[in-house]
Amino acid sequence: MKVAVFSAKRYDRAMLAELNAAHRHALTFQEARLEPETVALAAGFPAVSIFVNDQLDAAVLETLAAGGTRLVTTRSTGFNQIDLRAAARLGIRVTRVADYSPHSVAEFAVGLLLALNRRIHKAYERTRNGNFELDGLMGFDLHGRTVGVIGTGKIGRVFARIMAGFGCTVLGHDPFPHPDFEALGGRYVGLDVLARDSDVISLHCPLMESTRHVVNDAFLALTRPGLLLVNTSRGGLVDTQAVIAALKSRHLGGLAIDVYEQEASLFFEDRSSDIIDDDLIQRLVSFPNVLLTGHQAFFTREAFGTICATTLESITAFERGQALVNEVRAPG
Ligand code: NAI
Repeated sequence: MKVAVFSAKRYDRAMLAELNAAHRHALTFQEARLEPETVALAAGFPAVSIFVNDQLDAAVLETLAAGGTRLVTTRSTGFNQIDLRAAARLGIRVTRVADYSPHSVAEFAVGLLLALNRRIHKAYERTRNGNFELDGLMGFDLHGRTVGVIGTGKIGRVFARIMAGFGCTVLGHDPFPHPDFEALGGRYVGLDVLARDSDVISLHCPLMESTRHVVNDAFLALTRPGLLLVNTSRGGLVDTQAVIAALKSRHLGGLAIDVYEQEASLFFEDRSSDIIDDDLIQRLVSFPNVLLTGHQAFFTREAFGTICATTLESITAFERGQALVNEVRAPG
């Protein structure tokens, strides 16, 4: 099947091309994101493969449908970038990668937490410059602390298990409690109790209208002074203005994020020679207690291999008229 692969970086091309030997699809790689300006490149392709920051709103989907696209497959777990109702109306089916190593993201969240707490990113810079001073690098023992996990799905539960292994008390909040979470020693509480009682909070729920800005001024007002906040889920879960205010007031002790609300125009590209217009991200990176990475939590050999394999399997199943096990549909 002819497939237009958008947001295709060198590593996407290499892995997809290797695994495609077993599928023999005609892959056309586009470095560009899929958005109104580039959607014409998909004309005549029955299948389109996308990534997290491509823009699949109703207008783009209408153009895709008019050009003959019948399958959109995202190389991600989250699918908040796709207007599922519009896709259904236009007869475009949508698949994602529901299952890939949750360890990839959970372990990265732990890595961010350790780096932020123990200032490892600062120490790295210092020692490279011959500065071996410890002043300003003091953290705290995670052992005995309380860690709040918002969203106890696949990734949240792996994160919770690692934190329990560190000797932390683990609190969880999720509208759909999972028995495994309690089996590993976690305790479900309301969002306000989680905010109030946690020394560390890590976000692992999907971005939906009901979770947008779940971390906002009111939430932060409930939290303990010195809280460390980690977000490896989706940028829109956090009200950036609110966390900047909480960092400026010294209430929030530190922020580690792999995702950012306005990341679409910045991430996955080398912007080091550009003037960055986004004042919020510039303010964020100016804080010594903010650690920012560019949406790399999924990026392990295991997870990425599964992402590419599942993407190709979905396209093959679609071509053969088989059941799409990774299909996502609009609620209702
Ligand atoms: P999952 O579907 O297994 O778990 C999500 C959990 O969030 C579910 O248990 C669900 O009930 C819960 N949830 C739904 N609404 C909630 C609410 N209002 N409050 C609290 N919890 C709520 O998904 P998985 O695989 O654990 O992934 C979680 C998220 O991680 C994805 O939605 C995606 O946005 C993000 N992600 C980020 C990656 C990265 O590279 N930074 C890579 C992969 C996923």
